[in-house]
Amino acid sequence: MVENIVILTGAGISAESGLGTFRDADGLWSEYDLEDVATPEGFARDPALVHRFYNARRANCLSAAPNAAHEALARLETEWLGNVTIITQNIDDLHERAGSRSVIHIHGELLRALCAACDHRWDAPPKMSPGLLCPACNIGKTRPDVVWFGEIPYHLERIEAELHRADLFVAIGTSGTVYPAAGYVAAAQAAGARALEITLEPSAVSDLFDETCHGPATTLVPAWADMLLAQT
Ligand code: APR
Repeated sequence: MVENIVILTGAGISAESGLGTFRDADGLWSEYDLEDVATPEGFARDPALVHRFYNARRANCLSAAPNAAHEALARLETEWLGNVTIITQNIDDLHERAGSRSVIHIHGELLRALCAACDHRWDAPPKMSPGLLCPACNIGKTRPDVVWFGEIPYHLERIEAELHRADLFVAIGTSGTVYPAAGYVAAAQAAGARALEITLEPSAVSDLFDETCHGPATTLVPAWADMLLAQT
């Protein structure tokens, strides 16, 4: 019996809200070099460039709205008799704006700022810039509260516990190329979960899933959630 549903989401779930994915043909990594804008070394080299990149993404995020896939997951969380937990690699807040409450941001949040000097976190202003002072320690070593390549993702212990208790693991809109998230299907299955993939194109780890469904998230996710809720 399915009680605990753990859902891993990636950039593909926000694509139809107008936010770019990373590795699709027109993705962000075809326009930017990830070494420049998504590594601690890139930030040390050119913080203004990195802030410009995240400022643009923050503006996109603020002007975007949750789509039918985000909304279906929020409804599932409300109506499902067991637990629904979302682990998202996305730094946007579209799950929260759709109404999801149990959301774990493994790669941090675009709308939060982090002080590299004292670890204080606060709501990011729409535009960040080098030298922006931390409201707690007044030192100008602030950065977006996002996890860059080479840094340790957030909430790993909590995620491990969620994967361990999952009965059903569903990956939505992720290419399965970035670890540790790409390894979660195997971890959930090892703990006894069935696994379903919903992506536009098969991911790099598609073969591991018990079931796969390929097409746009705004069509497939509401249909899947309706089907699941109809069984209860
Ligand atoms: N509906 C469903 N899936 C979609 C849609 C859509 N409308 N559009 C694209 N996709 C799928 C693609 O088929 C692909 O599998 O979404 C996936 C997007 O993959 P990536 O761009 O690699 O995004 P993601 O897997 O979230 O990337 C992981 O990489 O660069 C880092 O930190 C960044 O969190 C990100 C991580």
